[in-house]
Amino acid sequence: MYLGIDVGTSAIKVVCADVSGILAGASVDLETSSPQLGWSEQHPDIWWRAACRALQQLGERVALTHVRAIGLSGQMHGAVLLDRELQTIRPAILWNDSRAVRECEDLSSALPNIGQIAGVFPLPGLTAPKISWLKRHEPKSYARIAHILLPKDYIGHCLHGELVTDASDAAGTLWLDQDARKWCSEIAEATYVDINWLPQVFDGHQIVETVTGKAAAETGLNAGIPVVGGGGDAATGAVSLGATEPGRGFVSLGTSGQLFVADRTYKPNPERFVHAFAHTLPGRWYQMAAMLNGARPIAWIARQLELSPAEVVALAETVRSDRVPIFLPYLTGERSPHGDPHVRAGFFGLEDATTRAEICRAVLEAIAFSFADAAESFGDTMNELPELAAIGGGSRSDLLLGLIASATGKPIVRADGADTGPAYGAARLAACGDHVLSISDLATRPAEANRFEPTPIGAMSDRLHRFRALYTAVSSVG
Ligand code: XUL
Repeated sequence: MYLGIDVGTSAIKVVCADVSGILAGASVDLETSSPQLGWSEQHPDIWWRAACRALQQLGERVALTHVRAIGLSGQMHGAVLLDRELQTIRPAILWNDSRAVRECEDLSSALPNIGQIAGVFPLPGLTAPKISWLKRHEPKSYARIAHILLPKDYIGHCLHGELVTDASDAAGTLWLDQDARKWCSEIAEATYVDINWLPQVFDGHQIVETVTGKAAAETGLNAGIPVVGGGGDAATGAVSLGATEPGRGFVSLGTSGQLFVADRTYKPNPERFVHAFAHTLPGRWYQMAAMLNGARPIAWIARQLELSPAEVVALAETVRSDRVPIFLPYLTGERSPHGDPHVRAGFFGLEDATTRAEICRAVLEAIAFSFADAAESFGDTMNELPELAAIGGGSRSDLLLGLIASATGKPIVRADGADTGPAYGAARLAACGDHVLSISDLATRPAEANRFEPTPIGAMSDRLHRFRALYTAVSSVG
């Protein structure tokens, strides 16, 4: 039996799986704090405590002593800062934090070819500009930095004591030379980072260390169990779906949203803010449109209307689209395809007669439209994909998957176990590290639970056109 631990943004999820699939899972919710507008932070100690609690719950369902290897997955791009004594210096600054705008502008001017090396132009959510921000605004914290980790690697450090990462999480920092799969000293220097602060890079299925006695006592796991490198949540989500080979792609509908396409070569496309990153497995890369506002707008409107997300979806199902307003979903700015940390969300076309159901429908349509934009930014690459799989909490909605199929023109396939994707992918990497699965076995796809064919978008095409025109108009207002 193999354990996957996923450090998500809204919860720590743990699953036990064997080669036939998921056996049991548990999760513990996490809070995010936003001490200032545009900031997003979580304390790493909370992740470890939540992971221990989630493992305790899992241990009530399965015998954790039967776990043979552990894989890790996590929210990407977060900056976890440790001092010389390996103590956390401050809360981690997360992927959806937008404070480092000026630092991105400085870095783009200093290194105009950075997008070709690092696979994406500087964006505030990525790790590197956060360190430049700290140097400018929190010099005392900056002066203490001795090590930088990604969120899942902090859990790895608590489990086995080492300071390591994997290629796919390294890829999301902006410090990795994606083609060479090595840290780039030029980018490190330009962001005031000593390259020795950065962890050693492993492949996702490689064993990095074993569980210490202390961690065993805190978690209920056996000491001495191997822990593999794991991956950033985009890459582990891909492993859960067999998206490790060219021609495989998926949409992820979590707090964030992703359109992910696997490849065997590195194909940078920074102009459209498509990220070209190293995959967690050797000799593999991927292209990804990363949206900050995946399925988040459903949770947001649910809070405003005092409904549950399921009620929002149910209401949206009750209306047709001709009277529905247009919603721009950019609640926290947007990465792909706009690279615009300043834009914000809004409704357009509200009438006195607009109903709550129509507002809910507008929110779901906007998510589908942002995937249409993402697909368009991939250009011809999309033609090579026969279909897209779907994972993440938002993939529970038939309406949303149908809308995304129509907006992207691709059939969408909901896989079995779709909402625990990344944790399951991490468990599969652990099974690969333990040699019960080979790297080529990881390309096996899970059983198809449902399939959504694109329908001619008809009137939706006019609405998509208005959605795009509205972004253009709004982005000039700021
Ligand atoms: C990917 C991204 C998010 C985070 C949080 O680039 O920013 O998916 O990994 O899930």
